[in-house]
Amino acid sequence: MAEKEDGMHGQTVLEIKDLHVEVEGREILHGVDLTIKCGETHVLFGPNGSGKTTLLMAIMGFPRYRVTRGRIYFAGEDITDLDPHLRAQRGIGIMFQRPPTIRGLALRDMVRLCASRDLDVEAMAEEMNLAEFLQRDVNYGFSGGEIKRSELLQLLAQDPRLVLLDEPESGVDMENLQLVGRAIRKLLQKDRRRTRTKCGLIITHTGYILDYVEADMGHVLCDGKIVCSGNPREQLEGIRKYGFEECARCTR
Ligand SMILES: Nc1ncnc2c1ncn2[C@@H]1O[C@H](COP(=O)(O)OP(=O)(O)O)[C@@H](O)[C@H]1O
Ligand SMILES: [Mg+2]
Repeated sequence: MAEKEDGMHGQTVLEIKDLHVEVEGREILHGVDLTIKCGETHVLFGPNGSGKTTLLMAIMGFPRYRVTRGRIYFAGEDITDLDPHLRAQRGIGIMFQRPPTIRGLALRDMVRLCASRDLDVEAMAEEMNLAEFLQRDVNYGFSGGEIKRSELLQLLAQDPRLVLLDEPESGVDMENLQLVGRAIRKLLQKDRRRTRTKCGLIITHTGYILDYVEADMGHVLCDGKIVCSGNPREQLEGIRKYGFEECARCTR
């Protein structure tokens, strides 16, 4: 197994080429290129409305986010026209910024549906501080932080190869931040030293998540275009000091 996993290193898992995406007839992404290799974690910064969520939703394939130009490849396969559930089956998982409430579906059943194998759902829920939530409808009456934890619980059950996280730390209280950070570290196998096969693309405002998962690469999205790719900690420092306006001007 270890040898097989090692053999996957350096492989391109996600490749996005010249991606243009339209929402409700308006172009939001104007040509995004992005490559994530096996074992890598990338973070995505950008001001509100720059198209970060749109990029993640397009990778997941939601029809509202219409690709008008460019391609998306996952593990070498062109998935640009593939249905979202088939992308999920291929190994792409997403944690929504604002997930829907699902009446009539208990969280316990949802977690089981996400899993491709037998799981100790009770123990997993316990770990996410969600034991009493299992019999409740998915996200129904959950607080912001509880929603984030419920999303993470579903992702841990799915155990996807490519993890897309949309502001995982937003709305999470101090008490649960560490728990969320650790769960993400586990998802991305960052708690392991070698043979990481999981990849991540994480949208973050606070950069808090960088304390839990060393990211390999950071990108700044402004107005539907990636204007900077590089060291995520340096980027975050720059953004904190000078704001996103300087990113557009920076030619470093
Ligand atoms: N479902 C939608 N209908 C109409 N406009 C949308 C929709 N989703 C996103 N947009 C618009 O697309 C732009 C980018 O939004 P979004 O991708 O959510 O940005 P970010 O996540 O960076 O804050 C915004 O101007 C937003 O209003
Ligand atoms: Mg967003």
